[in-house]
Amino acid sequence: MTKKVSRIGVLTSGGDAPGMNAAIRAVVRTGLYHGLEVFGIMRGYQGMIEEDIFKMEGRSVANIIQRGGTILKTARCKEFYEAPGRKKAYDNLKKQGIDGLVIIGGDGSFRGAVKFSKEFDMPCIGIAGTIDKDIHGSDYTIGFDTAVNTAIEAIDKIRDTMDAHDRIFIIEVMGRDAGYIALHSGIATGAENILIPERKTNIKDIIESLQEKEKRKKLVNLIVVAEGDEFGGANEVQKVLKENLPNAEIRVAILGHIQRGGSPTGIDRLIASRMGYHAVECLMEGKHNVFVGILNNKMHYIPLEKAVKNKGGISEEWMKIVKILAS
Ligand code: F6P
Repeated sequence: MTKKVSRIGVLTSGGDAPGMNAAIRAVVRTGLYHGLEVFGIMRGYQGMIEEDIFKMEGRSVANIIQRGGTILKTARCKEFYEAPGRKKAYDNLKKQGIDGLVIIGGDGSFRGAVKFSKEFDMPCIGIAGTIDKDIHGSDYTIGFDTAVNTAIEAIDKIRDTMDAHDRIFIIEVMGRDAGYIALHSGIATGAENILIPERKTNIKDIIESLQEKEKRKKLVNLIVVAEGDEFGGANEVQKVLKENLPNAEIRVAILGHIQRGGSPTGIDRLIASRMGYHAVECLMEGKHNVFVGILNNKMHYIPLEKAVKNKGGISEEWMKIVKILAS
């Protein structure tokens, strides 16, 4: 027998991602369509602990589909790691009569949800909202496409000045543990080298090719680095290159949190709407602790505990393409 939900909560947790608002909108409107009461929980698990919870109506999510950030705000909540914090959160949900949750966030947020739902029998449905695209079980995560396009726009501009001066540019994009933003933005901007946490970098090769270019007096080269690459980001890569190319003009640009903001792209709005809708459908069907992903353009459901960081997702094919196209 599945327990029917009647009052559901929605929250955003972890790093924000463009498109989270579109997902919130989809959850609220699908819930209302089914006759549910929908509650917004502020600042992720923090709002559950502090009982910062409010009832949402259709109009609460009007005019937000195009907005970056999250109207529910977000946080990384330490207190929720501990059992007393989770108990407080549960008591507050019970007080509000909430009997199902939709969590929009990354793998850390899902780990918290899995613990919580096991302790308190609260159905939790997870949607991947992270610019890093590093969650196992989905080809898309909300915010990735926007972040990549933001990076591309910035890199294109830097490329103009790089080319005008014949310089080496090292551009750092986000991705503490994941190289997808670097890979996609690097390929799309014609980067000669892309450094990512998932692969060892043959720095000797890069240095030799730059020394070769220097001899030919054509020292222009674009390097895109994920912040979590083995050297520890663009500044560290610059130091290594400088040691070997003391006369070269090497500039660094760190794109930073600009990649997390801005109006979501069409793709991010669409996947957020689709995932938000299906998350509520899951609760309606009595599903517990499910991750709602999209694989090969079809909805794909896995147990929430399996929606962990996807470290092996970058294929050798992509790495080969980078190499061949840059030569
Ligand atoms: O949201 C993911 C992410 O942007 C990572 O790529 C990055 O390393 C991290 O968040 C930065 O987090 P914070 O905003 O806490 O500095």
